[in-house]
Amino acid sequence: MKFFIDTANLSEIKEAHELGILDGVTTNPSLVAKENVEFHDRIKEIAAVVPGSVSAEVISLEAEEMIREGKELAAIAENITVKVPMTVDGLKAVHALTEAGIQTNVTLIFSAAQALLAARAGATYVSPFLGRLDDIGHDGLNLVTDVRTIFDTHGLDTQIIAASVRHPIHVNEAAKRGAHIATIPLKVIKQLTQHPLTDKGIEQFLSDWNK
Ligand code: E4P
Repeated sequence: MKFFIDTANLSEIKEAHELGILDGVTTNPSLVAKENVEFHDRIKEIAAVVPGSVSAEVISLEAEEMIREGKELAAIAENITVKVPMTVDGLKAVHALTEAGIQTNVTLIFSAAQALLAARAGATYVSPFLGRLDDIGHDGLNLVTDVRTIFDTHGLDTQIIAASVRHPIHVNEAAKRGAHIATIPLKVIKQLTQHPLTDKGIEQFLSDWNK
């Protein structure tokens, strides 16, 4: 499973990139709004730091406008993936953008049927939102299992990005259940590096060395 970072904050992206584990970036309108920067400029800056896929989301809800916005975003850099919400118009836009050779990430996926539709429309990636499903008493991780089973059964090569990741268990389980990618906030990436026995071991080694 690959790691993407889920943020529009450039210093967080640079920090994760330095770890050598970063294969891409996902942003969304809420994450970009927090940064108080011009959207296209920030996407360009991110795409220059990370060579892998950088998801930039369209704002329009109407297919023609989504396609126009998507083409504009894709022109910013070669590694831009156009993020499109899971709606009827979104599917139309994914189909047209795919025909134009542009990579797409269908976001706000909350059911296996939504993921299957997005894959059939030609999506490069689908993003099931784990944390937001957990928040309403569902099991977000089961969705990853279902989507992976369906994609494998039907020979679909759309990649699954485990999104709305809130803690390390989401990451471990998404990897076991066959997500191709997890997009993770920096805080959770750092949590993944930690274990109390690692800290205790370092402390013991240093104290023995100093004796
Ligand atoms: C994914 O691409 C989204 O940007 C993100 O994972 C949403 O996560 P949230 O539910 O924590 O906002």
